[in-house]
Amino acid sequence: MIKLIVKTQSAAEIPSELLVVPVFSPAKETDTPQGLLSKALIKLDTELGGSAQAALQSGDFKAGLGQRSVTYATEKGAKVTRLMLYGLGPAENLELEDLRNLAGTAAQEAQNRKIAKISILGVKTRRFSSEACATALTEGLVLGAYRYDRYKTTGKKKKAALQDHGSLRQVSLIFEGAKKITELRNSVNQALITSRGQNLARDLSNAPANALPPAVLAREARRVARETGLACRVLKGAELERGGFEALMAVGQGSENPPQFIVLEHRGARNPKSRKIGTLCLVGKGITFDSGGISIKPSAGMQDMKHDMSGAAAVIGAMQAIAELRLPVHVVGLVAAAENMPGGRAYRPGDVIGSRAGKTIEITNTDAEGRLVLADALDYAVDQYSPRAMIDLATLTGACMIALGEWATGCFANDRALQEELAEAGDETGECMWPMPLFPDHLRIMKSSIADLKNSGTREAGASTAAAFLKEFVGDTPWAHLDIAGTGWKSPQNSYHSTGATGVAVRTLVRWVEDRVQQNE
Ligand code: BES
Ligand code: MN
Ligand code: ZN
Repeated sequence: MIKLIVKTQSAAEIPSELLVVPVFSPAKETDTPQGLLSKALIKLDTELGGSAQAALQSGDFKAGLGQRSVTYATEKGAKVTRLMLYGLGPAENLELEDLRNLAGTAAQEAQNRKIAKISILGVKTRRFSSEACATALTEGLVLGAYRYDRYKTTGKKKKAALQDHGSLRQVSLIFEGAKKITELRNSVNQALITSRGQNLARDLSNAPANALPPAVLAREARRVARETGLACRVLKGAELERGGFEALMAVGQGSENPPQFIVLEHRGARNPKSRKIGTLCLVGKGITFDSGGISIKPSAGMQDMKHDMSGAAAVIGAMQAIAELRLPVHVVGLVAAAENMPGGRAYRPGDVIGSRAGKTIEITNTDAEGRLVLADALDYAVDQYSPRAMIDLATLTGACMIALGEWATGCFANDRALQEELAEAGDETGECMWPMPLFPDHLRIMKSSIADLKNSGTREAGASTAAAFLKEFVGDTPWAHLDIAGTGWKSPQNSYHSTGATGVAVRTLVRWVEDRVQQNE
């Protein structure tokens, strides 16, 4: 696990193998390159041999956003062995996302060079508080250092820890002369918790489907519960039958690995004031592998369908963070886990199935399985918890991926205020939650001629028709649906995302819950 230390002394006094120096681009044409560095840094660089100033002098490094230049100490026995100048562009355009990218890049550079100890100089900016900067830097670091290498056998001890592989061990965040050290430390600790929640989600999503069938996903949820003090219950087999989870069972019946319904509960509302917020439910699609079933998918790219439980992973990651942050509110995480496989017992196109809510569904495509397992989960949430608000997360449709790409999660809702809350929370975390439409016409497409609903419509507006199907199972509960089909995987445009699972939405969910708590104060 990476250790993060907040320091307030001058960067020159802190030994490190890599010191990252954020640099804004010149405000005026007349600014000299050296003017971009503080006096203390110029002094430090001069002691190291002056190569950072030489890089600036050459004109190669103009501090454009994301530009970097690594220089080396030429003096023997120097405290700092490398300097990385990192361009942030014009100071007035700074975004927190730029700082996440800076720290993510620093972490990756350190990992690539097998470095253990680095330090990052905090930026001084009027745009954000130093706490907000510390939060963003911490997030970028923890997320950028992540790698999924548990199946690499070279040069590694057996049974490595689950998270934070690689060489990087210790990072000093330097806020020279800062006064609010306790606040800074709190921000760093909170960001550590949420980012580790996101890395947990990535680990779960990256896990191959043979290593993570529904029962193992349930075991992981139980482990998180044990470690963080959440309550956990898992329904399976006869309990699902008795509970009427007919849609979840239909999806899972073609697989040797039986479906599981996971309930994680954070009982954080200990006083009347926090009870006023009401219960919040987070619901995740947990398809541990989506072959498409009898309506089988083409083989190209099918391997990525091991991450069709990324909604579930986000819920489990967020619940871990919510518990560790001890947020004073009642939050319930629900996961409908199943494997969608073809086979002699699989459900078929043309079947009519029931659901927990009692609605009948004609199966027109066994590959539209996510909405089926979510239908039972949403109904369970409403029925058991009468939540004040409910959010589901799912890698639900290829259509949403086509519409928004890797850049935004589609956000559908029956409640404008909730949709806006999520957009705002996403703005703050750098995870775009883009509002998408839900019209009565979308529901019309999902009506069956022989049952109450059918599970697939036409190609047009495929993400909206899927959301319209879900809406039939939430009653009057304020609800939002996040389609993370495009954002859940890869994301090379953000340096703090390595290829594979992104763990998207964990930080936004935590932020949303925190915002609900604050509104109540
Ligand atoms: N899990 C897929 C959606 C998906 C596709 C997620 C690509 C991530 C990347 C989902 O179960 C699915 O197969 N959806 C179908 C629905 C259709 C049959 C109505 C789709 O989008 O094609
Ligand atoms: Mn599918
Ligand atoms: Zn799926």
